[in-house]
Amino acid sequence: MALRCDLIIRDATLIDGTGAPRRRGDIGVKGDRIAAVGDLSAMSADREVMAEGRVVAPGFIDAHTHDDQAVLCGPACMLCRVSQGVTTVVIGNCGISIAPVPMAERPPAPMDGVCAPEWWIFDSFAAFADRLRTTPSSVNTVALIGHMSLRVGAMGRNDLDRPATDKEAERMRKMLAQSLAEGASGFSTGLFYPPSKHAPTDEVIAVAEALRGTGGLYVTHMRDEANGVLDSIEETLKIGAAVGAPVVISHHKCAQPENHGRSVETLPLIEKLSQSHSVAFDVYPYTASSTSLGVRKPRPDVPVMVTYSVPHPEMAGRMLKDIAAEWDVSLEAAAQRLMPGGGVFHNMAEEDVRRIMGNRLSMIGSDGGPLAKHPHPRLWGTFPRVLGHYCRELGIFDLETAVHKMTGRTADVFGLEGRGTLKEGGFADLVMFDAATVKDRATFTEPRQVADGILETWVNGQSVYTYEGGASDTPAGRLLQRAA
Ligand code: ZN
Ligand code: CU
Repeated sequence: MALRCDLIIRDATLIDGTGAPRRRGDIGVKGDRIAAVGDLSAMSADREVMAEGRVVAPGFIDAHTHDDQAVLCGPACMLCRVSQGVTTVVIGNCGISIAPVPMAERPPAPMDGVCAPEWWIFDSFAAFADRLRTTPSSVNTVALIGHMSLRVGAMGRNDLDRPATDKEAERMRKMLAQSLAEGASGFSTGLFYPPSKHAPTDEVIAVAEALRGTGGLYVTHMRDEANGVLDSIEETLKIGAAVGAPVVISHHKCAQPENHGRSVETLPLIEKLSQSHSVAFDVYPYTASSTSLGVRKPRPDVPVMVTYSVPHPEMAGRMLKDIAAEWDVSLEAAAQRLMPGGGVFHNMAEEDVRRIMGNRLSMIGSDGGPLAKHPHPRLWGTFPRVLGHYCRELGIFDLETAVHKMTGRTADVFGLEGRGTLKEGGFADLVMFDAATVKDRATFTEPRQVADGILETWVNGQSVYTYEGGASDTPAGRLLQRAA
């Protein structure tokens, strides 16, 4: 009996996400699943798409986002993701998560950059998961629980500049354990940031203890990505090993000019540690980072562009140095006046970005935050930039490897069963793109630009984006949880 599909994409170049070589073939979708892969000329479908040799791959998994609020705002908020072929986002990164701690007033930076004040309403992860189920996004969500959020819950908003007491750490551990039981996939920290840098390693281990035996991940924006980056890598692995949790180093980089080139030290260290413990890292394809103003002292050799400013919204998109000159104040004073606010910091070297991205342990994560008025271009450009610039133009890896770092590898690290590969019976999260033309169009001056060459994106079998028609309003996404 011939199988009838809802959708068949014919004559595609199939790149299956495992890193295996491409092959020509068809792919059939029924309901939310991939029904068949191969020569499907004997089958028919309600909708048939002629790929004419263009690539069909598993939908991209963004290993690192700050979409905690955006996933609750429905499909309309997700054009920046689905237009890149992204079908799953990991939220709750850098120690900041929208649940399980409600905030009555504006939380301290950098938390305030992730969710608007009126969105800090969830007093449990279950409440967040319920809301996501009631008003689904167009993409799937994997959620981490943030240490900074837990600290506010356990220690109060105004008393964070100290280590937690044992009792407070125990409260955090309980909140984390409950959230994991309710569907969260891991624990994140942002030990670099002022409210969390007062947390000693022991405090983090005490809280992370909730991960033991759950399969949940320890994910971290490390204490130091600059001079002390090697010590921070050791600390990260120490925490993961102490509680038996796989670790993910967030947006791995060697920050500040005096550390440029030091990926020749960091990568061998991570490789060495990976022999005895599961470790991965994400990376975005830019030499500029983005975070709150004021977390690092501004310096003349690290140009800063303002992404948003609460007291001076008109300054978004302008360079800090020009603003300081106009106000006739120091860089530091100008940054102070613009806060609360965010910036793009040009503080990395191209050679490090290439070396880190090219390493076998890397995965692609945008670190995009959708709230900024003038965001870092990584929000709209990350995945097409890796495919177009780093893969096709620079050739730092082949297309199969590029896709693997956005799909199969990421699904493996986060334990997402049935995602990240093109497999019969797997979920139909798919992207079709033109390998010859795919290219990011978002720039530092014009950051909100849809990419070229991403032709269609499907989530759980439903079309959520076409290049011609834009984002659909199909709420196809689900909450995904790490398989234990
Ligand atoms: Zn971060
Ligand atoms: Cu981040």
